Amino acid sequence: MTLKLPRIIGHRGACAYAPENTLESILTAAEMGVEWVELDVKLTKDEIPIIFHDDTLERTTNGSGAVAETLYEDIRHLEAGSWFGESFSGIKIPTLEEALEVLVDHNLGLNLEIKPCPGREKVTAEAALDILSRVWDDHDRLLVSSFQHVSLEAAMDVATDWHRGLLLDCDNLPPSWKDLCDYLQCSTVNIGLTCTTRELVEDIIDYDKNVLVYTVNDPQDARRLQAWGVDTVFTDAPDLIQDAILTVH
Ligand code: G3P
Ligand code: MG
Repeated sequence: MTLKLPRIIGHRGACAYAPENTLESILTAAEMGVEWVELDVKLTKDEIPIIFHDDTLERTTNGSGAVAETLYEDIRHLEAGSWFGESFSGIKIPTLEEALEVLVDHNLGLNLEIKPCPGREKVTAEAALDILSRVWDDHDRLLVSSFQHVSLEAAMDVATDWHRGLLLDCDNLPPSWKDLCDYLQCSTVNIGLTCTTRELVEDIIDYDKNVLVYTVNDPQDARRLQAWGVDTVFTDAPDLIQDAILTVH
């Protein structure tokens, strides 16, 4: 399997234009001609994989409390669009299964970020990959990533040959990222824009891994990163970045 990364990945769909991690955000990205999207997955209390970023419900829904303490039956009634704009009111939090259906229908590739609530690193990866394995067969256009090494380890155990991406957090950059990458057999290293230096990019390229950078919303940054050899940028605003860079590899 050869990972066929696009130049641009729509971050949480196209979250500058629609509420993040919703079906509408995925559809907006598709309408812009984006080839892949990045989505965050975590588990409800009853271990249903949903597409959601935060550990708590307040910021992007009309609910409150911890996702890990809320049953899917309650999550599915929440409203996840009005915080972004009145025209999006009534939008729901999608399950991973619902999101995958839209991705397949629109022929989109996926970077699924395993975003476990604390203590659920292994089970989140296992539950998400179980669902993925039932519907996804294009492994050249699938990347499973995480900041959590335990989640990547679980992904490696259940789906050894699927491509994995090691996410690096600029506030907590592990000096041993090469060892982690080796151990977790990662195809890519995904780094934050604020700590992306030319030296780090070249180091990753020398290490024979693809380099992805999040989150790039300024066309000038996108052009600079592309010149340095970065393979792919995550962006909230795919239309702005598409116009700025060469979109073919
Ligand atoms: O996967 C890239 C990026 O999404 C990581 O950060 O917080 O936006 O999930 P975050
Ligand atoms: Mg993410």
